[in-house]
Amino acid sequence: MGLNRVNEDLSELDAFVASAYIEDILGVVKSGKEATVYCVRGGERLGNKLIAAKVYRSMKVRQFANASVYNAGRLRGRGGIRNREIRAMENRSRIGRELSFGKWVADEYETLNLLYNAGISVPRPLQMAERIILMEYIGEEEDPAPPLTNVHLSHDEAAKAFGEIIASIEQMLACDRIHGDLSPYNVLYHEGRTRIIDVPQAVDARFNPNALNLLDRDVENICRHFERFGVRGDAWRISRGLWARYLRSEL
Ligand SMILES: Nc1ncnc2c1ncn2[C@@H]1O[C@H](COP(=O)(O)OP(=O)(O)OP(=O)(O)O)[C@@H](O)[C@H]1O
Ligand SMILES: [Mg+2]
Repeated sequence: MGLNRVNEDLSELDAFVASAYIEDILGVVKSGKEATVYCVRGGERLGNKLIAAKVYRSMKVRQFANASVYNAGRLRGRGGIRNREIRAMENRSRIGRELSFGKWVADEYETLNLLYNAGISVPRPLQMAERIILMEYIGEEEDPAPPLTNVHLSHDEAAKAFGEIIASIEQMLACDRIHGDLSPYNVLYHEGRTRIIDVPQAVDARFNPNALNLLDRDVENICRHFERFGVRGDAWRISRGLWARYLRSEL
């Protein structure tokens, strides 16, 4: 795949260089809808390893599709946030947009920590700043791991990868989380192993009223992708089976 040249102003990444988290910016892995991911060389404080820096776009040029689906029920059970701020978020007023911008980044970082610490196959989170997350880089220098959309798998490799992803979905649910945007684009494949990425919109299955629909869709996206390799999974049975076990606290 290779890396692309950096041609953006990256003052926030420079702050990480100054504080010895980052030594050097090596290139752009991919510029997505909501963020640009850079491959950087870690500084002394992060052991000089390769690191992925996900730099979110500012709110002006960035729109999360259907944010309300993911946000529904999100604020319940969290102390410390004042009613006025909740109303502001719901109104999508200016202050609301600013608050929720920071929240997507902080939510992704928090979710990565939760999932990583539970032993789920996601990149290890390392550090965050206002609009940046530093995490374990998946791939080799000059050769970032491809998303599943770009890899051809043998039947055996596909069966293994499929099993891993369904197991990850189950483990996430055991942590009360549903990815909510799971697709072959958001699973990286490296050294025969799958890694789930891109979790800012993950929802809390206890509170989000759309949780089951999001779970159905995540499982459906994965099942559909693997059919091309002759690996068949009954999406409905899988997601409804997981959900039934979740409700009975059996995960
Ligand atoms: N830890 C990582 N290691 C290597 N590559 C990564 C890593 N995280 C993300 N990438 C690459 O950057 C791309 C964009 O990352 P991500 O999906 O998190 O951001 P996004 O802006 O939501 O992207 P999109 O809009 O394409 O879904 C990924 O598809 C992947 O190719
Ligand atoms: Mg993505």
